[in-house]
Amino acid sequence: MTNETVTIIDDATGKKVQMPLLTPTSGPKTIDISALYKELGYFTYDPGFMSTASCSSGITFLDGNKGVLQYRGYPIEQLAEQSSYLEVCYLLIHNKLPSKVELDEFEDIITNHTMLHEALKRFFSGFRRDAHPMAIMVGVVGALAAFYHDHMDIREPEHRIITIQRLIAKMPTIAAWSYRYATGKPFIYPDNSLGYTENFLYMMFAMPSEEYKPSPLLAKALDLILILHADHEQNASTSTVRLAGSSDANPFAAVAAGVAALWGPAHGGANEAVIRMLMEINNSGEPLQNFVDRAKDKNDSFRLMGFGHRVYKNYDPRAKLIREICHQLLNDMESTGEQKKLLETAMALEKVALEDQYFVDRNLYPNVDFYSGIIFLAMDIPMNMFTVIFAMARTIGWISQWNEMVSEPGYKIGRPRQLYTGAIDLEYVPVDKR
Ligand code: SDX
Repeated sequence: MTNETVTIIDDATGKKVQMPLLTPTSGPKTIDISALYKELGYFTYDPGFMSTASCSSGITFLDGNKGVLQYRGYPIEQLAEQSSYLEVCYLLIHNKLPSKVELDEFEDIITNHTMLHEALKRFFSGFRRDAHPMAIMVGVVGALAAFYHDHMDIREPEHRIITIQRLIAKMPTIAAWSYRYATGKPFIYPDNSLGYTENFLYMMFAMPSEEYKPSPLLAKALDLILILHADHEQNASTSTVRLAGSSDANPFAAVAAGVAALWGPAHGGANEAVIRMLMEINNSGEPLQNFVDRAKDKNDSFRLMGFGHRVYKNYDPRAKLIREICHQLLNDMESTGEQKKLLETAMALEKVALEDQYFVDRNLYPNVDFYSGIIFLAMDIPMNMFTVIFAMARTIGWISQWNEMVSEPGYKIGRPRQLYTGAIDLEYVPVDKR
């Protein structure tokens, strides 16, 4: 920690305050303004947190200008190439790559926690059949707190670890069962002989009446997608989990809040919104340029879903990696005509947008969601399951960041202030005088 400071001068009073300038391992230096209100009586104003670091963290690093993403210091390209989702889970939790023995033990623990309490099955049947699987996931994840009172003392590291393992293990079962319930299919119990992603595909697509073997190609592609979506610094849903967890709410409730935040089409819901946009374009019969023009029209709420990012002002490194899988999968698989047409439209849109000055000036590149939806479609995963899979992948990021926060001695409840712009000191008028 250096002794660098930034001096803030209040022009109205001439008062000067020196704020510590914190130096990160990498990324922008950060002004510690925690004493500002006490010293100067002022708040800072930063809606959307465009310039605000909400916490310190050692888990994931992004450099939006260089298109860099690293988990615990390891570049995403290397993890995507050589690691597995469960190994990345271990890395994010324990801040080190596991030995072979540690990884085998971790995989074994996760495999043996994939079952849900049998009473939870009835919870699913309380939903309408056409409930969106994300609505089911929010409810079921929150309800887990009703089943695990034995390990919910968040001050106990051992309780936190078992809760982390339970969430990693049970999210695929909850996700698959949300789909099975919404489509009127019987629940398929986990098969402990299968790997993490194979087991998810098995619970999603197997039928009791016949043998089902998960495709190794799909399982590998899905494992890679889970790695790419595992964590992403202080995005909206992770910040939601941290804020919910900062009140000492139990981790299941905090993660359920994260699932809810991820659902929004500006965030994790974008992968589903991308496909709906591509379908709208294909079904409209209009030229692509019309949609690009609408996306640029301030009076039109239409935006190109899957483009742009709050942090990446260069290519999203995950989009680069996932774009290759997209092409490989659609070449290797006999994808249906519609999937091919959607990919063709996606590629044409990508080309038009990347050459359009409006997008170039605003650094609006395709993000990870632009391609993930097309891959899920190629896997015959229904659109309303795309964000569910994103939530399944991001659970490790949410719960690792939660664990990092609650492990810090003396962490505080998050309680932002505001710039008040409403009325003040009004006199109450009785109803017969209004
Ligand atoms: C995810 O935060 C994370 O890390 C998220 C995520 C993760 O892993 O957790 O990476 C996952 O959420 C990826 C993003 C998925 N969302 C979408 O694809 C939805 C479409 N994208 C936009 O909604 C938007 O780009 C955001 C929300 C992603 C980012 O918005 P910002 O940073 O608030 O940017 P902005 O709205 O201020 O836009 C800057 C300019 C504006 O134009 P001007 O006012 O400067 O003239 O770019 C324009 C915007 O109108 N713009 C777009 C656009 N995105 C931004 N114009 C057309 N289409 C778009 N998609």
